[in-house]
Amino acid sequence: MGKTTCAINLAFSCAKRGWKTLLVDADPQGSVGLSLSPTAQSHSGLYEIVTQSQSLNDVALRTKLDTLKIVMAGKIPSNEVSKWCTSLQDGGSLAPFFRAATDEGFDLVVIDTPSGMHGPTEGILRNVTHVLVPQQCEPLALRSLMMTVDFLNQLQTEKESACTLVGVVLCMADQNSPESKQIVDEIRQLLPSELVVQALLPRDPSVVYASMKGMPLGLLRTPPPIAIIFDQLAAELEPKLGLSRSKQSDEYVSLVV
Ligand SMILES: Nc1ncnc2c1ncn2[C@@H]1O[C@H](COP(=O)(O)OP(=O)(O)O)[C@@H](O)[C@H]1O
Ligand SMILES: [Mg+2]
Repeated sequence: MGKTTCAINLAFSCAKRGWKTLLVDADPQGSVGLSLSPTAQSHSGLYEIVTQSQSLNDVALRTKLDTLKIVMAGKIPSNEVSKWCTSLQDGGSLAPFFRAATDEGFDLVVIDTPSGMHGPTEGILRNVTHVLVPQQCEPLALRSLMMTVDFLNQLQTEKESACTLVGVVLCMADQNSPESKQIVDEIRQLLPSELVVQALLPRDPSVVYASMKGMPLGLLRTPPPIAIIFDQLAAELEPKLGLSRSKQSDEYVSLVV
């Protein structure tokens, strides 16, 4: 839990820091769209780019930030969802999209994936360079985290995949709950320290409020403290993603799972 929230707000923070950023909704349910745009269902998106060869430039929506564009999920007919998910699985059909993102000069592509490591996520993992795993601070999630980390480490050793696990970001931490604190400690003990990002995202009602308003946290009239934590997360991830001021012309691709 926390993938879509991380994808939207991390993309916003990176764009605010000057990186030319593309946020992509790869969840067929259109989670980014549900959070940001009441008319998202009517926008062309990844579906039209891949299945109808529409151009990235025509489909990507502009935002209040010049540096941030968004590709919505697209108008996927309900009886085509399963076929669409299967078609993404081997990653080949997405390759032209990633080439187009490179050609358009994006520094960073942040992709919001559906739950699970199969279907669209599997195909995306074959095309990206970095994976970020948002992890909710609750006991049951701990088990699936270890499976996810093992799966990604295994993928990294496969020749066909060049993607690196950039880190686990702990979400919905409750500062007042001993159980939540214990989970944070356990995860930090369990995983190598470089794999758990420092920025700790608290449980905060303003996250729900921001998605009701259809905006990133940083655009709320009075940005809540968690908006600043997303800025810190962006700053922390920059070097891990290979983003550096001296290499502005290189392109990098990132993934949020
Ligand atoms: N830090 C947080 N504090 C409070 N609510 C949150 C937080 N992060 C996410 N949520 C809420 O939890 C729900 C699931 O989050 P979301 O980011 O959509 O997860 P996922 O994409 O993994 O399903 C949403 O309603 C979202 O607004
Ligand atoms: Mg989601």
